[in-house]
Amino acid sequence: MRFGVLGTGMVGHTIATKLISLGHEVTMGSRRAGNDKAAAWAAQAGESAHEGSFAGAASFGEVVVNATAGTASLDALAAAEEKNLTGKVLIDVANPLDSSTGMPPRLTVANTDSLGERIQRQFPDARVVKALNTMNCEVMVDPSRVPGSHSVFLCGNDQSAKADVRALLETFGWPAGSILDLGDLSAARGMEMYLPLWLRIFGALGTGRFNIALVRDAQ
Ligand SMILES: NC(=O)c1ccc[n+]([C@@H]2O[C@H](COP(=O)([O-])OP(=O)(O)OC[C@H]3O[C@@H](n4cnc5c(N)ncnc54)[C@H](OP(=O)(O)O)[C@@H]3O)[C@@H](O)[C@H]2O)c1
Repeated sequence: MRFGVLGTGMVGHTIATKLISLGHEVTMGSRRAGNDKAAAWAAQAGESAHEGSFAGAASFGEVVVNATAGTASLDALAAAEEKNLTGKVLIDVANPLDSSTGMPPRLTVANTDSLGERIQRQFPDARVVKALNTMNCEVMVDPSRVPGSHSVFLCGNDQSAKADVRALLETFGWPAGSILDLGDLSAARGMEMYLPLWLRIFGALGTGRFNIALVRDAQ
C-alpha cells in the first residue's frame, strides 16, 4: 500500500521506517521537498522510500499519517491540500502541545474540542482516525518494547476507516484485544488530554517505554 507520512521528526521517521519494513511504499512529507532529514531518510530506507512536500506526500498516499507538530498540524495539512486528503484515511498521531511559553507544554485545545476534531472540521472529506498519540513512537510501532498486555486507543467518525487502522495496528504487532475503539472523534479530547500526565510519568520514570495497561473486572 502507498502511505504519505507528513512529518520529518522522530515520529514520522519511526512510522515511515516501520511501514517500509512491512513492505509498503512511503513518501515522507515536509514543508519543503528536499528537506535534509527527509532526504537522508529516503536515501537510507530503500527504493520504496521517497520524500517530497506535504502535498506531494499526501497526494502519493492512499493513507496519510499526520505526524507534524500539533501546533502546526492544521497549517501542514492545509499545505498538503484538501484534494489530496479527500476520501482518504488520515491517521492523526499529533498532540496539540505548545512549549513556546515554557515547560511543561500546555495543550492548545482541550475539554470541549481536540486537534483531531479540528482536523476533521477543516477537512470534512478526510476520514480522520486518532490513534497512537498516547505513547512514545518506539512503542507505537513495536508494542513489545513494553512487556505484557497494554493498550492502544483509536477513535473516529468513520467505521471503515477505523477498521483499516485497526488492521494496520495489528501489523505493527498490536494484539486485537489490545486495540480499544473509544468511539467517535470526540474521544480524541481525552486521548490528547492524557498528554500532561504522560509527560509527568515520563519525567518520573526517566523513560518513554511505558504504556497504559487496562485492568477490568472479569466479563
Ligand atoms: N515523540 C513521540 O514519541 C510522540 C508520541 C506521540 C505523539 N507525538 C506527536 O507526534 C507529532 C510529531 O512529533 P515529532 O517529535 O516527530 O515531530 P515535531 O518536531 O513535533 O514535528 C515535526 C514536523 O512538524 C512540521 N512543522 C513544524 N512547524 C511547522 C509549521 N509552522 N508549519 C508546517 N509544518 C510544521 C515539520 O515540518 P518540516 O519537516 O518542514 O520541518 C516536521 O515535519 C507531534 O504532534 C507530537 O506531539 C509524538
